[in-house]
Amino acid sequence: MIMKRSLLLLFLIITMLTSALAGCGTQKPTETGTDVEPTSDAAPTGSQPVSQTGSGVIVVYFSHTGHTKPLAEYIRDELNADIYEIEAKVPYTDDDIKYYTDCRADREQKDPSARPEIAGELPDLSKYDTVFLGYPIWHGQAPKIIYTFLESADVSGKTVIPFCTSASSPVGSSAENMHSLAPDAVWKDGTRFAIGTTKEEIKEWLKQYDLKGKENVKDDIEPIRQTCVLVIEANGKIFYANFENNSSAEALKEKLNSGAITVDMQDYGNFEKVGTLPWDLPRNDTQITTEPGDVILYQGNRITIYYDTNSWNFTRLARIGNATKDELLAALGNGDVSVKFSLEWGE
Ligand SMILES: Cc1cc2nc3c(=O)[nH]c(=O)nc-3n(C[C@H](O)[C@H](O)[C@H](O)COP(=O)(O)O)c2cc1C
Repeated sequence: MIMKRSLLLLFLIITMLTSALAGCGTQKPTETGTDVEPTSDAAPTGSQPVSQTGSGVIVVYFSHTGHTKPLAEYIRDELNADIYEIEAKVPYTDDDIKYYTDCRADREQKDPSARPEIAGELPDLSKYDTVFLGYPIWHGQAPKIIYTFLESADVSGKTVIPFCTSASSPVGSSAENMHSLAPDAVWKDGTRFAIGTTKEEIKEWLKQYDLKGKENVKDDIEPIRQTCVLVIEANGKIFYANFENNSSAEALKEKLNSGAITVDMQDYGNFEKVGTLPWDLPRNDTQITTEPGDVILYQGNRITIYYDTNSWNFTRLARIGNATKDELLAALGNGDVSVKFSLEWGE
């Protein structure tokens, strides 16, 4: 009994010390850990809809005194993830979490059937394949409201990555004990973080999951796999050009994928219209004798449309296949001309 009391005293001292130390970081919990300090702007909560970033990753967390919350937000920021805060329908008061006083939290943690209700709507998890699940350690385990979440939201088939904060306890069995609540999820090992863990430490921890890479592949490569043509519009007339197979053309596609550009072009040499691009493109220069309809990259940052022939060392970007000199000149005119370049995607 004396032994048990001493252990309890030691635990409470550690808790108070870590809480006090945490005040030097981004959070300022009181000694009893009952202050809720808002950490950042627009994090959606249980009663708000979750914004959709399309990253396939959501951070779901419960944080009563505000230690776990900043870690959840670091993960959100690093992975461009969505975030959802679990809030109790009946909010926990300061007295409810004064642990070792037979407070509400103490009783819930002891009661295997306790499932505190969640406020507001649950997030629609169908758009996510990875769920980071954050919680504080309460008597060695996840708070029972996390159990409510796992039994109400459908995490089957999703990768669930538990993380927690505590005064001193390790993650222990807290993560494994949740597996039976969602047996069809793909569970990763749980990780415990000290109160006041920094953004840099979270960034390091996240590297093992390689989730940023996955997101980039989705954003950057998929559109380029489709075929597209270069649309050239001048004085209300439109020409379609097929791209060359080189890195210059690929770079132009990638740039135009973000939006059309309009280039002011001047007549030069009685064989081309030439104008400056808003960016430099990689060069694949080679000796070319142009034909009417060639779209050429000159010196890496100028685009030319040829309506006649010329020989020079430059890079072909695309070619209007079926336009004659007269048709091109009818659209481009004899002098300066404003030309719009855009993409049109096909199968
Ligand atoms: C009811 C309750 C029980 C707790 N039990 C433990 C525990 O067993 N071990 C521990 O190290 N910390 C324990 N703590 C401290 C919290 O785990 C710690 O303060 C945590 O960082 C709080 O996270 P939050 O601010 O996100 O709610 C407990 C706190 C409460 C309120």
